Amino acid sequence: MNAQIGKFSRLGFVLSATGAAVGLGNIWKFPYITGVYGGGAFVMVYLVTILLIGASLLIAEMVIGKRGQQDCVSNFETLSPDDSKRGWKYAGFTLFTGLVIMTFYSVVIGWIFYYIYLTFVGLPTSIDDAKAIFDQLYGHKPFLQIFFHLLSVLFVGGVLLGGIKKGIEKTNLILIPFLLFILLGLLMYAMNFDSFEKAVHFMFAPDFSKLSSEAIIRAVGHSFFTLSIGIGSIMTYAAALPKKAEIYKAGLMVAFMDTFIALIAGLVIFSFLFQFGGEPAKGPGLVFISLPVIFAKLGMTGTVVAFVFFLAMAFAGLTSAISLVEPSVMYLEDRLSWKRKKAVIWSSIVYFIVGVLVVFSISDGYKDWLTFGTKSLFDVLEFSVDSFLMPLGGILIAIFVGYVMKRDIVEGELLGHMGNTVFKIWYFSIRFIAPLAVLFLAYNAMKI
Ligand code: ALA
Repeated sequence: MNAQIGKFSRLGFVLSATGAAVGLGNIWKFPYITGVYGGGAFVMVYLVTILLIGASLLIAEMVIGKRGQQDCVSNFETLSPDDSKRGWKYAGFTLFTGLVIMTFYSVVIGWIFYYIYLTFVGLPTSIDDAKAIFDQLYGHKPFLQIFFHLLSVLFVGGVLLGGIKKGIEKTNLILIPFLLFILLGLLMYAMNFDSFEKAVHFMFAPDFSKLSSEAIIRAVGHSFFTLSIGIGSIMTYAAALPKKAEIYKAGLMVAFMDTFIALIAGLVIFSFLFQFGGEPAKGPGLVFISLPVIFAKLGMTGTVVAFVFFLAMAFAGLTSAISLVEPSVMYLEDRLSWKRKKAVIWSSIVYFIVGVLVVFSISDGYKDWLTFGTKSLFDVLEFSVDSFLMPLGGILIAIFVGYVMKRDIVEGELLGHMGNTVFKIWYFSIRFIAPLAVLFLAYNAMKI
């Protein structure tokens, strides 16, 4: 690995990997899918999946990165035990999934920037207005979206140019505590509402009659997305850990923080909704349509709350975005010997341009050119990530760590910190539970 971009400190790694995991998935997606799929029972499945599969895969990915110390392709190649298994290096190309995600993720970060701007010029005061504003942005203002998408590309590129130490670690050391501080502040505020108890009940009292098979698939799929599994991000960050660092506790900490933040975001959002008469099952527009109207009703306080809420969302999105591009940058540096600057610029150009096409694919007047069957390019990319690319990355990691890598190497990274019993449970999960869960997910996702 490129020495001049530096190594993480322990805290820097935990916060940066938390930054990678905690993203729009936690603050935007988790609350709305919890709303759509009925609350408590869905949350229960999600928590069990994180515990049994997500955290195990996260730790497995850290094992590969930390042991390999290089880009993803080189990690799979050098950790293959003999020449007959060198083909495993192709598993490393799942690192480009991060760039695929960025083609729409950066566009959504752009929407958040736009909503931060709206907190200054005026939030919509009725649901009809809010819908009109969101629909205008989504379907009719491609150039405004491209402008904000570009801002996100420039921010992420700027951080990546600084490398691990001065760019990624420094940014996460600032933004993640800020994000936590904002969310905890919002939670305190929401705890004063009468509706807080209702929100707790909605999220934690399971009603299994509401649990459809589609809800289970979504919960499993989301546990992958939210922990950034199978896309090279966590592996690439772990490759920048000092050789002596331990990864078991770090992995648990990241899984815990990610879950904790998603639950806080959910509690805050549902408290506001129940207090001011919004509906939980509003889908993707939940935070862009229902919440701004509620905030607007609260006058000046609401404007401040809206500002910090969207700021928190932007921080969460940007810290994940950085981790989605870094695997490609590191690959281009390590394997093609590109300078970091060139690697950052070209990776950014690629997802910026495809992101522009993504914007046009949802905009009136252009979308016919960029619709495939009934799906826009936006939908096609999002669908391929959820149903194909992430499960693929996940299963490759499970098989590689569970069956291909030498067991003593895996033990060397974990046994001393985990102890024998936990290691056995973890290894069983990696060899059997995780691959089966991924196959279940991929098979069923195709049917949705
Ligand atoms: N893990 C990131 C998120 O949840 C990608 O948004």
